[in-house]
Amino acid sequence: MDWELLEQTCMQCTKCKLCSGRQNVVFGVGNREADIMFIGEGPGEQEDIQGQPFVGPAGKLLDDMLSIIDLDRSKVYIANIVKCRPPHNRDPQDDEQDACIDYLRQQVLLIKPKIIVCLGRIAARRIIDPEYRITRDHGTWINEKGVWITALYHPSALLRDLSKRPETFEDLLEIRDKMKRLDLYK
Ligand code: URA
Repeated sequence: MDWELLEQTCMQCTKCKLCSGRQNVVFGVGNREADIMFIGEGPGEQEDIQGQPFVGPAGKLLDDMLSIIDLDRSKVYIANIVKCRPPHNRDPQDDEQDACIDYLRQQVLLIKPKIIVCLGRIAARRIIDPEYRITRDHGTWINEKGVWITALYHPSALLRDLSKRPETFEDLLEIRDKMKRLDLYK
């Protein structure tokens, strides 16, 4: 599948109940040739209105986190586990994630990132391990089929709980180290 067909299909998707409440499908944004991909859980209110991931307060913090590791939105690709907003920002349910996950799989196949960073528990559980515990496991790495995968606290959690920020700063430095070792800063 190519980008055009994937995006078109996704934009018209009615595979789960989230389609009925959405204003916009939030497909994903950024560099389609990025070496590093960030994956959140699902659109919030602002994302639903604007059709872009991480444009609300959590998105502003994500931009700051990217700049700590010398990145910006032109150098990364950002997407979510589900592409339509769950009502009242509740967690996306398993059936909603199941219905949506193939779109993300296709995006990963097209982008071929060297590093995937899960943002928060929902993405980490879906992508890394169903038993993932973000408090215990954030900042650890796995390599799956040549792709390095890690997880950070979700930016929304970092907005609520400032005490998590120093650990996240360390995790970000590890991501920067990994990128340097893989020669991804060009
Ligand atoms: N939170 C997410 O997980 N994704 C977004 O796009 C915005 C907020």
